[in-house]
Amino acid sequence: MDIQRILEETFVARAEHHETVDSTNNLLRRYAEENGDIRLPLLIVADRQTAGRGRGGKRWWSGGGGLTFSLLLPADLFPHAHVQPPLAGLASAVAVAETVAPLLPDQKNVTVHWPNDVYAAGRKISGILVEVLADRRHIIGIGLNANNSTADAPAEISQRVATLRDLAGRTFDANDILIEVLRRLERQLRTMAASPQKVARAADRLCGQTGGELSLKLGTQTIAGRCLGIADDGGLKLQTPQGPQTFHSGTLH
Ligand code: BTN
Repeated sequence: MDIQRILEETFVARAEHHETVDSTNNLLRRYAEENGDIRLPLLIVADRQTAGRGRGGKRWWSGGGGLTFSLLLPADLFPHAHVQPPLAGLASAVAVAETVAPLLPDQKNVTVHWPNDVYAAGRKISGILVEVLADRRHIIGIGLNANNSTADAPAEISQRVATLRDLAGRTFDANDILIEVLRRLERQLRTMAASPQKVARAADRLCGQTGGELSLKLGTQTIAGRCLGIADDGGLKLQTPQGPQTFHSGTLH
């Protein structure tokens, strides 16, 4: 990766490129715990993760050519962290969707899926893992299937994931993509700090679940309903048998 270019062209103050790490989120967490006074935003990009993590304890597949990186961000970028759920994941998903759409033959196929995934052609192309530290600094980890191919993905997920390379039939400059995501992410995070509902509305416009039947697992309960989009506070709106309701946590099935 071209670290110099990333530092010159984005809001990142410090950046590291590693060949292999367990997880870029884990490494940043260790840095953050060791050093409360680190220069931020700090970016870690890795070619390979041996224990890439997804939400809910899932693993993240990326294969060779996938773009995997995490940012440690200062607490003051998140003055509305009390908004439930934090909108940082949706802001990141919007930034990734905006980056990916112009690269693909059919832009309309790029959508945001609540709480913070990006889909292309109906399959997951990017996953985001946001972790909030005790001092409110945030770690945003992004996995974007870029120059990898689903032909190399484990059988159990190969039908559900998409990559830029497979969809566009060519490879991309990883630096260009990363820089574009970082620039768009900065814009979304600054918008979110000033006006959280603007980011929620951008996510709502891109939401690919609206109108579909969803099933949300919330503790021991499962709530089924038609998706009404994303609410102004970042919650998921469902038309349930009891009427419209907004949910701020849970796992979709
Ligand atoms: C999900 O789909 O549930 C979220 C996946 C997040 C994957 C990224 S890859 C970079 C960063 N490091 C990790 O261990 N996870 C995130």
